[in-house]
Amino acid sequence: MSPIKLQFRLATPADINTLLPLIRSAFGGKQSRNGWTTEADLVANDRIDESGLLAKIVTPNGVVLLGTDPSGTLVACCELLKLDGGLGYFGLFAVDPRHQNGGLGKQFLLFAESYARETLGLTRMEMSVIWMQTELIAWYTRRGYTRTGEKRPFPYEHFVNAKAGAMRDDLYFEVLEKDLLAGTTITAAA
Ligand SMILES: CC(C)(COP(=O)(O)OP(=O)(O)OC[C@H]1O[C@@H](n2cnc3c(N)ncnc32)[C@H](O)[C@@H]1OP(=O)(O)O)[C@@H](O)C(=O)NCCC(=O)NCCS
Repeated sequence: MSPIKLQFRLATPADINTLLPLIRSAFGGKQSRNGWTTEADLVANDRIDESGLLAKIVTPNGVVLLGTDPSGTLVACCELLKLDGGLGYFGLFAVDPRHQNGGLGKQFLLFAESYARETLGLTRMEMSVIWMQTELIAWYTRRGYTRTGEKRPFPYEHFVNAKAGAMRDDLYFEVLEKDLLAGTTITAAA
């Protein structure tokens, strides 16, 4: 099967109805088991709701990026949030489980990094990954991310259907970071 060549655009509030099922199916539930990074055995919740997603789409401090196949069908997404000092946060990264492990994640991440650098002016990108997702951490490491050693608490209280979501009480995030300028040539303006 030839790899899908993704097209990219910014999400708008009109995308919420198709975006929400994509995110939920990638992170948890039955469909996520078709992928290779399911959180279904770690967290049983809806990940995010309409209002949470809308807030990420309309924030002036970031964007939600979408990846579609050539027919316009949504297959991937992420959020990019501008923090202080050139740092950006990469989150909500999801590829439709039916299309995972076919190179779309790598294709999407590369685009997100160039968008972060060239459009948002970011110089470093961070993300947080549940510590037990060792394959995922290894995947990011192969893409140039390094563990910072910082650990962040798992926000049980903010997760949708939080009561049902607490399948374990030992979850926390590991923070990974990448220098977005490493390996790029900075050319002085004429
Ligand atoms: C993480 C995610 C976005 C990656 O997308 P993807 O399209 O599957 O990624 P790619 O096809 O580009 O890469 C697949 C990689 O998985 C590896 N892989 C596949 N099956 C694996 C397995 N069972 N164990 C470990 N690695 C595996 C492949 O070797 C490949 O890595 P490599 O290219 O470095 O060799 C996607 O899996 C996803 O949506 N996961 C659910 C949501 C999530 O966890 N998001 C990230 C939160 S931080």
